[in-house]
Amino acid sequence: MGVILVTSRSFSDGDLDLVQRASQAGHRILRGPAHHELEELRSLLHGADAWIAGTGPVTDEHLAAAPRLRVIARYGVGTESVDLDAARRRGIPVTNTPGANAGAVADHAIGLMLAALRFVPDGDRRVRSGDWGVRRGRELGAATVGIVGFGRIGQGVAKRLSGFGSRVLATDPFLPADVVRAHGAEPVEIDDLFRRADLISLHAPGGQLLVDAARLASMRRGSVVVNTARGDLIDEAAVAEALRDGGLAGFAADTLHGDTAATHSPLLAAELADRVIVTPHLGAQTTQAVDTMGSLSLDDVIAVLKGAEPAHPVTAR
Ligand SMILES: NC(=O)c1ccc[n+]([C@@H]2O[C@H](COP(=O)([O-])OP(=O)(O)OC[C@H]3O[C@@H](n4cnc5c(N)ncnc54)[C@H](O)[C@@H]3O)[C@@H](O)[C@H]2O)c1
Repeated sequence: MGVILVTSRSFSDGDLDLVQRASQAGHRILRGPAHHELEELRSLLHGADAWIAGTGPVTDEHLAAAPRLRVIARYGVGTESVDLDAARRRGIPVTNTPGANAGAVADHAIGLMLAALRFVPDGDRRVRSGDWGVRRGRELGAATVGIVGFGRIGQGVAKRLSGFGSRVLATDPFLPADVVRAHGAEPVEIDDLFRRADLISLHAPGGQLLVDAARLASMRRGSVVVNTARGDLIDEAAVAEALRDGGLAGFAADTLHGDTAATHSPLLAAELADRVIVTPHLGAQTTQAVDTMGSLSLDDVIAVLKGAEPAHPVTAR
């Protein structure tokens, strides 16, 4: 009998009853807060044999508070919030759920692109205030779209864009050019991508700054940036400035700095609301993705707790 601490918001919230699956394997699910605030988690961590973790930080201090912990399963893809070195030093394997939410996030990225190009949320707000005036947008199929990070989600976006007829550029320093070409995209260097794209969609891991003032200044006037990856990939003050001076026509994101705790972003300024769209990190929140992320993370936890190898181990790059 093991205690599985779960801090991801949507675990077992889809069609599958994963709490029952855990119980059939002899384990008990214990829920904890998604923000991972250590003092609130401390007593829960103390008795946890496994941790299915959301996007909050998993630090060495968290691990020190969890003497029984045998596995950390990141519910999702990104692992930059987990101190992988600390976990390795303590002999605790880390797993994730690669690909489980790729279709969901790729769909959402396309939705944000269309919403930004056609001012959908702004149109909705204006109609509700009695203003039926129109803003002229642009078609996705007429755009050159630059994909930054050509992994599972980036490739899913390219696949969807082929149906729109968009020209697709992609940059990924860890992927051979022929793999990029095989997915219908033109491999380019990142600075070249910023200069040539009308719309840039971010799909690289967080923990690095990719959209800064210099790159924004190099973009075509009136272009759009979509970020469904991580908030820290962009310099928010520089993006707000580019939106104010018209360099950028629109910005749409599923996450901001500080993620679900973000309240003071310069991108939430009221006067930018007609050009900025933000969703509350819901990219992976589909029934299909929630079921798959939950299953893969739970199955890996069950495997480790019975002494087997997990199917999706994460190793530091
Ligand atoms: N909005 C959401 O709910 C949500 C859900 C899942 C994932 N994500 C984010 O999306 C990211 C991508 O997910 P994925 O499943 O495609 O991951 P993935 O690991 O399959 O792909 C990421 C790709 O980014 C590339 N990369 C790394 N650094 C880069 C750089 N500097 N420039 C260009 N490419 C770079 C990697 O080589 C890799 O191919 C995740 O890291 C995560 O931050 C967000």
